[in-house]
Formats: sequence, C-alpha cells, structure tokens
Amino acid sequence: MLCLGIETSCDETSLALVGDGELLGHVLASQSELHALFGGVVPELASREHYRYIGKLFDELMQRTQLDIHAINTIAVARGPGLLGSLLVGVAFAKALAIGLNARIIGVNHLHAHLLAVGLTQKIPFPSLGLLVSGGHTNIYRLEAPNRIEQLGKTLDDAAGEAVDKIGNLLGFPYPGGALLDQAAQLGKPSLAFTLPYLHNNNLDFSFSGLKTAVATYIQQNLQPLNYARPVTDVTTLPAAVLDLCASFNLAIAKTLVIKVHRALEHERDLQHVLLAGGVAANSCLRQELTQLTHDLHMSLHVPTPLFCTDNGAMIAYAGYLLANLGLEHDLDFETIPRGRIIPNDYKSQS
Ligand code: KG4
Ligand code: ZN
Repeated sequence: MLCLGIETSCDETSLALVGDGELLGHVLASQSELHALFGGVVPELASREHYRYIGKLFDELMQRTQLDIHAINTIAVARGPGLLGSLLVGVAFAKALAIGLNARIIGVNHLHAHLLAVGLTQKIPFPSLGLLVSGGHTNIYRLEAPNRIEQLGKTLDDAAGEAVDKIGNLLGFPYPGGALLDQAAQLGKPSLAFTLPYLHNNNLDFSFSGLKTAVATYIQQNLQPLNYARPVTDVTTLPAAVLDLCASFNLAIAKTLVIKVHRALEHERDLQHVLLAGGVAANSCLRQELTQLTHDLHMSLHVPTPLFCTDNGAMIAYAGYLLANLGLEHDLDFETIPRGRIIPNDYKSQS
C-alpha cells in the first residue's frame, strides 16, 4: 500500500508518503512567520496560503521520492478539527486526486493522527492512555485501536499551548511563544506560586484560563515596565524575575497535566502505556514530570520524534495507512469538520 497524507488544518501545509508502514517522504511549508505578524493565525490568510502551496508541495514530494504517482492507492487527509477554510483546501485536493488516481480516500481525525504519530518510529502500544497537548487542544484519550479512540477529558476553555502563547505574547515572545517560554523557564527558578487550576473535581477535564489570568495579573502588578528588547529572540538576556515567572508557569501547566493523567490511569486500571503528543509534548518540564510519573507507576511513556509532534503530513499518512489496513475508508461525500464539532466515526468497510 502507498498512502499519501495531506495536512492543512491550521497553518502548516504538509504532505507525506507512507508505504507499508514506513515513511518514504515528507514535505512541509509553514506559515508561522506570516501569522506572527498578526500575533495569531488569521484563518482567511491560512486558507489562501494552503491553496498557494499544496500543488507545488505535491510535485516536490513526488520529485523527491521518485515514486510513480499511479502507485498511490490510498489518500488520507485531515478532515478536522481545524479551520474550515484551510481544511477544505486539503480535502478538495485529496478528493480530486482520489478520483484522478482511482485511489481509496480516508478522512482522518487530526487529533487521533497526532497520537498515532508515535507509530512512525516505534510500535504503538494498545491499549494505552493518550495525552494530546497542542495550541488548539488539551485532551486525554483511551486508545484501543487506530479506529477505537475514546476521549476521556478535554479543556473547557484555553488549550495549554494557547495559554502559554498568550503569556508568551505578554512577555514579548514572537508567536507562538511556547518553545521560547520553555527555554526561559529552564534558566529560571520554579516555585509553586500559582494555584494548579481545576483540580478540585472528579473529572479529567482541564481549564487553563484562570491560571492564564493569574499569571497575566502577576506580570501586570510585579514585572512592569518590561525593561528589555522585544520581540525577544535570546532568552539569556531576560531579567531573573521573568525567567522565574516562566519557570513557575511552566511547572504549573506541567503538574496540572500530569495530575490529571495520573487520575486517568487510576480510572483505567488495565493500562500500562502512556502516549504524549502535540506541539506542547516538546515541553521540557512536561516531559520530565510525565517521565517521572510513568517511571514511578512502572509504565512506559511513548513520544513521537519532535518533528512529528507538531502538525505534519506524515502523521496523517501513517494514520491513513493504519485505518486502510483495518479495511476502512470513506465515500467521496465525507464531511469536513471545523473545530468544536465532534468528528463522526463514519468509516465504511472496503468492499
Ligand atoms: O500541535 P501544534 O503544532 O499545533 C496545533 O495543532 O495546535 O502545537 C503548537 C503549540 C504552540 O502553542 C506552541 O507554542 C507549543 O505547541 N509549543 C510548546 C513548546 N514547543 C511548542 N509549548 C511549550 N513548550 C514547548 N517547548
Ligand atoms: Zn495539531
């Protein structure tokens, strides 16, 4: 099987080819510099950029891999959640190509693909618990199989990455500020200065907006005026008080996530493996805290390589390969699903 994966859900246009479970090629065009000018992703611009790049990227992928286009028999495309205009560019391209090549088509849940990306470098352990932390989502899942992934918890407001990016913005880090804030945090002294949010309940949901407001208020009351050059490019130039704030905020986010993962593992007592995915999976403090937890519980922790933690076409191609191997596909009329709506499990079995 040769599966083409297409990802256009947010601000990365990316395509990849997976042949019999192995990644054969991967291309990506990021729009982050364009959106950084506006301090966040501008949906209309994002879809136009996808439209501008998708054809060229496909040609580049075929050129690089030197594979015959007619060997592509499976096309997987991120169908949601994401920005609707952006998703439609990828889905329309995928559907047209599927007709042209007479290939099967599979609409992939972008969030599930993030978790399944671990399979690009190692065997995915099933059943397992999955923590997905990105700029748009903070979810906990139970994974039984590539097509049986149950959501156990979600964020009620800001995603962890969103909260980090907003605080990064207040401190003068270019968007998205998560990676730089993490670098700054590693130079500071963490304290548990901020209350860990939304833990006094019985559920596996998250709420980061209160923590974000508490940190923003702290910045307003204790760190103003910010006497350093912005946008920040070198965190070693930051005052100690800013580094310490980043360390404390980073710790609060990581500890909150890990406490809920621990709670989920107490509910799902048969699970022995934890998957961590999404852009925030790169966070040093989160990795450290989760490594400690899984070690203490004698469980294994699995994280995709950093390149495949953020949005990419390889994870879509790989998820498509796994689903096609289970005999699943879609008809051409499958729907594209924007953020906030549930993605139906509406695959049909291959005839
Ligand atoms: O998964 P992703 O590429 O985008 C979405 O699908 O949303 O994740 C991007 C997010 C951004 O919020 C970015 O600031 C954050 O991941 N991020 C980090 C780190 N590296 C990237 N957050 C915290 N620590 C990091 N090291
Ligand atoms: Zn994503």
